[in-house]
Amino acid sequence: MNAKVTVLQHPLIEHKLAILRNRETDNKLFRSTLEELSYLLVYEITRDLALRPVRIHTPLAPCDALQLAEQVLLVPVLRAGLGMVSGILNLIPSAKVGHVGVYRDEHTLQPVEYYFRLPPDAGSMRTFLLDPMLATGGSLAHAVELLKTKGGIERITVVSILAAPEGLEALHAAHPDVEIYAAMLDDKLNEQGYILPGLGDCGDRLFGTL
Ligand code: PRP
Ligand code: URA
Repeated sequence: MNAKVTVLQHPLIEHKLAILRNRETDNKLFRSTLEELSYLLVYEITRDLALRPVRIHTPLAPCDALQLAEQVLLVPVLRAGLGMVSGILNLIPSAKVGHVGVYRDEHTLQPVEYYFRLPPDAGSMRTFLLDPMLATGGSLAHAVELLKTKGGIERITVVSILAAPEGLEALHAAHPDVEIYAAMLDDKLNEQGYILPGLGDCGDRLFGTL
């Protein structure tokens, strides 16, 4: 495989993935687990955020410290990406949030765009594009294209939960500059374009629309 993906390995990530994959998991537990998993992922993928020195005062003495120097932008791909936002905001409350609405046509599997909104000056922000499912890669490739062309964003980091090899290849071929992180690389797609073994339809399981 040509695509470069960083698979984040940790016992807690494995444990929470088992909960997400389990068909017995109800909507409430699915939502809270996706939130927790996103929190764990972002701790790893933000290791290279830039810092700047600040002079602060503890209750006892002046002290040199460091604080974030970059404005973080989270862009969930609707709908399922929404399930990743609150967990990450708990860790980075200063992050701004944009939205990309894309769904895939269930017959052609091609992405259909219906919403796009970014904060002003998004082009200068450190951008994390969130979608739990990287299946054919069509939705994420389309979302990346929008962030580049309409948002003027140059550096984009994709954060997924499950990725299929087919989708990774397609996303890498369309946007070789994009960094891709996932909690797990799954086996393949089925004939309907669902990830195997996967976790089913993520948006439906989050929002109870099965
Ligand atoms: C799902 C998922 C991804 C997309 C992945 O969204 O959340 O955005 O499919 O598939 P792809 O890699 O083949 O494009 P879906 O189209 O089901 O829309 P929804 O989140 O609104 O349910
Ligand atoms: N979208 C999902 O929600 N699940 C899949 O397996 C593929 C696309």
